[in-house]
Amino acid sequence: MRIRKAVFPVAGLGTRFLPATKAMPKEMLTVVDKPIIQYAVEEALAAGIEQIIFVTGSGKGALEDHFDSDLELEKTLAERNKTDLLKSVKSLLHTSGNIVYTRQSEPLGLGHAIWCARDIVGDEPFAVLLADDLIRSEVPVLHQMIQEFERLRASMMAITEVSPEETGRYGIIEPGETSVGSVRVKSMVEKPDPQQAPSNLAAIGRYILTPRIFEYLGRNEKGAGGEIQLTDAMEKLLEEQPVFGFKFDGKRYDCGDKAGFQLANVAFALDRPELREVLLPKLKEMLC
Ligand code: UTP
Repeated sequence: MRIRKAVFPVAGLGTRFLPATKAMPKEMLTVVDKPIIQYAVEEALAAGIEQIIFVTGSGKGALEDHFDSDLELEKTLAERNKTDLLKSVKSLLHTSGNIVYTRQSEPLGLGHAIWCARDIVGDEPFAVLLADDLIRSEVPVLHQMIQEFERLRASMMAITEVSPEETGRYGIIEPGETSVGSVRVKSMVEKPDPQQAPSNLAAIGRYILTPRIFEYLGRNEKGAGGEIQLTDAMEKLLEEQPVFGFKFDGKRYDCGDKAGFQLANVAFALDRPELREVLLPKLKEMLC
């Protein structure tokens, strides 16, 4: 079955970015001139996703407005012949009804946020994208994963190598056999200490999941940090179905972390010729 739906959990509190995220959703933080959530939505649309499902919480109104049309603004830009700006503010989602919102009434964890989308997803495999993970790649990572899903027909998550001291921030996999770009996951553990980590391969914010995951998420069992964790549900899923870690092509920036977010801004700005020209000499100057 084709992957038609993508879930975007955006109900977290974003405490690492306070006070910036006191009144503004973390997912609206901008890299260069676009909110990080827009990069993720563009990636999903480029991968052929037809329905965007946001799991929001309180204080996320700016995010809903961002993906809506602003007729007043569009009219003003059109009258002033600001064609490029007009193009950049027009809604990415041209067909009404292909964007759906549901609420997570309390931020009980990523696993719980995904579970909140169960009735909208229904009985079909679906994608999950976390806007925090911004990935620069030639082929959008979700597109790479959907191609791999067509081959493997199984749940998978994007994985990347992290340094041993970072394992306590991620879901870490115990790798089994490798098959081309993917590695079979034997087990998973959320935020292990480096001594307990089964490898240095960490799950990052791109998943394709079979609907069976809802069975395990629905048990509402709390894990690391007292939160309902996706990793714990996947650990149960892989006892009944194969689950793979997918080694994607691309460079990932952790925008949920201050240093990663700043690096993403520099990297994406240097990709723009007009900004590169101004920034590069100044950055070199700063480093001398
Ligand atoms: P994080 O683990 O980064 O948590 O969530 P957070 O609350 O956003 O940020 P910090 O750690 O307090 O700074 C990863 C993704 O899962 C979503 C977040 O919105 C983010 O996209 N999430 C997390 C939820 O939707 N609900 C939750 O209960 C937790």
